[in-house]
Amino acid sequence: MTAGRAAHGRITRGTTGVNRLRRMDRWIASHPAFRTATAPLVVDLGFGAAPWTALELLQRLRRVRPDARVVGIEIDPERVRAARLHEREGLSFRVGGFEVPLDGGERPAVIRAANVLRQYDEAEVGAAWRRMAARLQPGGLLLEGTSNEVGRVASWAGVRAVDTAPESFTIALHLDSLDSVGGPSVVAERLPKALIHRNVPGERVHELLRALDAQWARQAALSTFSARQRWIAAVQGLRADGWPVRDGVARWRLGELTLPWSTVAPRDGALAR
Ligand SMILES: C[S@@+](CC[C@H](N)C(=O)[O-])C[C@H]1O[C@@H](n2cnc3c(N)ncnc32)[C@H](O)[C@@H]1O
Repeated sequence: MTAGRAAHGRITRGTTGVNRLRRMDRWIASHPAFRTATAPLVVDLGFGAAPWTALELLQRLRRVRPDARVVGIEIDPERVRAARLHEREGLSFRVGGFEVPLDGGERPAVIRAANVLRQYDEAEVGAAWRRMAARLQPGGLLLEGTSNEVGRVASWAGVRAVDTAPESFTIALHLDSLDSVGGPSVVAERLPKALIHRNVPGERVHELLRALDAQWARQAALSTFSARQRWIAAVQGLRADGWPVRDGVARWRLGELTLPWSTVAPRDGALAR
């Protein structure tokens, strides 16, 4: 899967959107891999047909660390050429693929690959994760996931380094619209490539989504207060049922839910490295 001289991967549809990746931006801005990095360099890999997501990422990260830098990397040279018109202090664009090329061999604290692997085969995911994760700083993090076009539904894997399975799985949802789209399991359509074909009986991610829908339904009465209160109670219910839910109310109130990857990992051991 090589395109061009050294770029690993292939050009795919460049669909993107303003504010589409805000939930991922927010999560990265709060993550220790970024907050405590000696060099807070973040890569937006596969930024697409327009540079908006990279620009927004920089703006959100700079509120937390004014020394943050973002490099947008795209495998399509035409998209890079157009994006370069938007370069500014802290933001640059360059051609590349999963090998994540950076000047002087610099290593990123975080790589975000959003809506990139969706257009690859499931069998290609492990190699792409490994190639990207191998470029991280010590303690760095790869966020690889999917969102819908308007950014109301998103989920992603957090991958730490070479030779380990992903460490986390996160769902992030716009809570006020959840009932109109059928509940939290709407995320089934926007799972990372590693999981999207695994939402079937017998698989862990299927069990999680069923349990989450059941908790959401059980807490319906709380919607008279707010969808946020209802979500927090649903997540607390999951935890009470034994799901090893991470974080606390400060993250849950944003519509997030993070669990160890092992709670959703495919049962056939695919992607367990
Ligand atoms: C659907 S767009 C996503 C744009 C943006 N990340 C978003 O979520 O809105 C996917 C982009 O990833 C690029 N892409 C695909 N494989 C890549 C790779 N291996 N390295 C860099 N970019 C890649 C495609 O050319 C395309 O522009």
